[in-house]
Amino acid sequence: MIVFPRLAFVLALTSVSIFVVPSGAKAALDETFTEIAEHMHEHLDQVGAIKAAVIAGRLEDVREPANWLATHEEPARLPSVEEMRRYAARAAAAENLVAAAAAVSEIARTCGDCHLASGVAVLMGYSAPPSRDEQSLTTQMQRHLWAADRMWAGLIGPSDAAWKQGASILAEVKLAASDIVVEGEQQTEITDLTRRARRLGTQASQAASVESRSVLYGEFLSLCATCHSLTGAGPAPR
Ligand code: HEC
Ligand code: HEC
Repeated sequence: MIVFPRLAFVLALTSVSIFVVPSGAKAALDETFTEIAEHMHEHLDQVGAIKAAVIAGRLEDVREPANWLATHEEPARLPSVEEMRRYAARAAAAENLVAAAAAVSEIARTCGDCHLASGVAVLMGYSAPPSRDEQSLTTQMQRHLWAADRMWAGLIGPSDAAWKQGASILAEVKLAASDIVVEGEQQTEITDLTRRARRLGTQASQAASVESRSVLYGEFLSLCATCHSLTGAGPAPR
């Protein structure tokens, strides 16, 4: 039997375009899908807000979207929902950015688990990675963000290709601790953070299982969060 994948092009509230490819007999009926699809965009917005808050180092902005994810009604009882809620509750109660980073990464993994179990693959659109012509702290950070976004799409899709694209750009980031000047002892911490970010790029390229990927992603986000709260720099509030 030949199965033609149904391609849905969606202009969502998000800035990215999204394709869904139902793959196989487990895909639910079309009517159910429409309601679920609408709800999914809400998911994407809320979990994206949690991730952005973590990257920016603002724990106070994690709570509201995390609470929403932990308590909202689902249109259908599908696998992974309880697990997703559990991690969302963990993010809402997180006492520090490291815990919030770990929780939001596990949420993204449970999104991907359910997509896989439901026979869908969510493919997110993306722009070209920042050009290599210009090398500055700002462009290195834009590379970080590009990598973080592609690896994120890799977890949620789930998409092996997206994960690997993100990880390979991460390996290209050339961030020298001396580019970031802070006071006294903090410089040692900056050196440690940049070293860990580099090592993580290699580990992420090698990680094959979704479990190891979500753990690494949590560590990755915690590096952004820690350095941005340490330096008071980072992306502007959304
Ligand atoms: C309980 C199972 C389940 C969970 C958990 C889940 N999804 Fe989905 N998701 C689906 C199904 C089924 C579809 C296909 C719906 C369709 O397109 O008809 C889907 C589709 C999507 C789409 C594409 C919607 C469209 O058609 O434009 C996005 C985006 C999405 N999910 C994001 C997420 C995010 C982000 C999370 C985690 C916060 C998540 N999903 C968690 C089952 C799930
Ligand atoms: C070792 C410290 C450090 C780490 C780690 C770090 N950042 Fe940054 N980030 C900075 C500094 C400093 C700036 C301000 C740069 C500037 O002046 O343009 C910044 C700025 C940014 C900006 C704003 C860039 C712009 O266009 O103005 C983004 C986006 C960003 N970081 C993303 C990330 C992401 C995503 C991560 C984690 C994957 C990360 N950063 C990890 C220190 C860090």
